[in-house]
Amino acid sequence: MASISATWIILFLVLQTSSGFAARTSLFQKNGGGRRVLSYNGADGLCASMVVAQGYQCEEHTVTTEDGYILSMQRIPVGVSGNAADKPPVLLQHGLFMDGGTWLLNPPDQSLAFILADNGYDVWIANTRGTNYSLGHTSLSPSDSAYWEWSWDELSSYDLPDSVQYVYKQTGQKLHYVGHSLGTLIAFAALSQQRLLDMLRSTALLSPIAHLAQISSPIARDASDLFIADDLYWLGLYEFSPRGNAAVVLLEDLCKMPDNDCSDLMSSFTGQNCCVNSSRTDNFLEHEPQSTSTKNLIHISQMVRKGTLAKYDYGNEGDNMKNYGQTTPPNYDMTSIPNDFPLFLGYGGADMLSDVNDVKVLLGDLQDHDSDKLVAQYIDDYAHADFVFGVNANQVVYTPLMAFFNLN
Ligand SMILES: *[C@@H]1O[C@H](CO)[C@@H](O)[C@H](O)[C@H]1NC(C)=O
Ligand SMILES: *[C@@H]1O[C@H](CO)[C@@H](O)[C@H](O)[C@H]1NC(C)=O
Repeated sequence: MASISATWIILFLVLQTSSGFAARTSLFQKNGGGRRVLSYNGADGLCASMVVAQGYQCEEHTVTTEDGYILSMQRIPVGVSGNAADKPPVLLQHGLFMDGGTWLLNPPDQSLAFILADNGYDVWIANTRGTNYSLGHTSLSPSDSAYWEWSWDELSSYDLPDSVQYVYKQTGQKLHYVGHSLGTLIAFAALSQQRLLDMLRSTALLSPIAHLAQISSPIARDASDLFIADDLYWLGLYEFSPRGNAAVVLLEDLCKMPDNDCSDLMSSFTGQNCCVNSSRTDNFLEHEPQSTSTKNLIHISQMVRKGTLAKYDYGNEGDNMKNYGQTTPPNYDMTSIPNDFPLFLGYGGADMLSDVNDVKVLLGDLQDHDSDKLVAQYIDDYAHADFVFGVNANQVVYTPLMAFFNLN
């Protein structure tokens, strides 16, 4: 659910521009076409396009998950000064419809990846399966429906631990973790199962997503209530590509609904971001949004509709029984996150995806957390995208975040 914010800004823009309509034929790419797949090559990766160009050193890495996905990862080992990192590694995990570019899109003094590198951290950037630079697989291709057969359960149980372990092994050090939006949910889920604890020092969770029952974005709620993702899945559209025109058509339909004022689509989706620089939209559109699996969207909409925080619901007792040994999907229990594990939460009063009321439920789950191991930073005028793209996020969020890292 990450910068869905950003995604929808983009969709809105696509909708408004002629180029968006020009390509209206291809809708969803049911077959991956001639897409570059296994030959992931650092020469055309994120390092080259977004890091080196800013004057920073950058290394391309690949992580192969236990279930065969080949993920790209970028490392910024030194700050712009050229001094080697003297602080621990930090892994940055983007959210839904985004990729590692999330942390690199603003100028270096406003983008978290560069800010951390300049402050002496060894920065690692994750890219989840299905995004542009993580389309490889040991046996599947993105044109196979099986390639897209996953939800955030798999991101939490494969991509996340395998990426964390990779950094841990490469550096020989425990790391800090920063997640945005869906990048927080997969961490909460893993921590609640006592995973990752031996490899992480702390986690910073921006626009935290755990409970979604009180999500206040009308468009997100309508999309969930209408079972849109479920319908696409049953139509055989297993990849959800927000750059594809089916997404635009869907959005047009949602915008016809009475409660959705699409003259300000971004706000009706994410809440009004106070501090995102709209002059940078072109730069943003060059890199984002990214595909995800339709099944992942089904899982998220189940959380919205049912108010659950649980594994993917197969929709019938038999299939749940087969997959989980019980008729309903097992819950992720946030009260099981160890009380002494350092957590930094940044949440915004204007965020309509990570709604304050849902965050309050999460904080209730964490009420027994050691008080010196939990920082909950509330920013009244911040919405979903401000945490990663806000022009003042360095002062408002990243400075306290780094202070927290220094203590843990
Ligand atoms: C917003 O972006 C434009 C274009 O990159 C830039 O010229 C301007 O300085 C930015 N404003 C702020 C407050 O960062
Ligand atoms: C995807 O990757 C290719 C290089 O392999 C690049 O040219 C293209 O701009 C990327 N697209 C997005 C949306 O990131």
